[in-house]
Amino acid sequence: MKNIIVLVSGGGTNLQALIDAQERGDIPNGRISCVISSKEGAYALERASQHGIKGLVLPRKDYPDNKAYSEALLGILKEEKADIIVYAGFMTILDKCVCDAYPYRMVNVHPALIPSFCGKGYYGLRVHQEVLARGVKVTGATVHFVTDVCDGGPIILQRAVYVEEGDTPEVLQRRVMEQAEWKILPEAVSLLCDDRIKVEGDVTHIV
Ligand code: GAR
Repeated sequence: MKNIIVLVSGGGTNLQALIDAQERGDIPNGRISCVISSKEGAYALERASQHGIKGLVLPRKDYPDNKAYSEALLGILKEEKADIIVYAGFMTILDKCVCDAYPYRMVNVHPALIPSFCGKGYYGLRVHQEVLARGVKVTGATVHFVTDVCDGGPIILQRAVYVEEGDTPEVLQRRVMEQAEWKILPEAVSLLCDDRIKVEGDVTHIV
């Protein structure tokens, strides 16, 4: 059974999707053992507590830079015996020291079809604002491995979602979550817990 640690910064609907999948028995080889928030008062922590999952806060604002924050986080990940780490709406870019400690064991959900609308500055609602401003007709979500390149690690799963006439960023964000993120994130985490994702360079294969 693998220990899954979920990193959050906000509302935690993706965390909720993981909790629901676990409770349905859809992640048979993993268990969410801890949730770590980079922000105090994040609603994601309340979701964890409602389901009896340990919650910790490591505020980003308490650290002078990324490196110091990453080292502190790495200490907690080791203490908590993390096997798999999931960024679920985690809005902090971590230093290479964390990525290097968990090669192909950290995944992120991104609210667009990478390599579109990704990289530094593309997060949360801003992604959907840019999608609408560019006028694309199909967007979606991606689950990928975390490396030291922001949103640049090998892609594990993607799902497409149509943009509709009259969409606002908020409406589109909700549709992308419902139709894509909340489905592919638990699926990818379960595949990872089953050791079914093989990586060859930039390409992953489900075996
Ligand atoms: C989600 O849409 C997630 O894909 C996005 O933030 C939202 C968090 O929602 N993450 C990023 O933009 C990371 N680059 P949640 O807290 O309700 O899961």
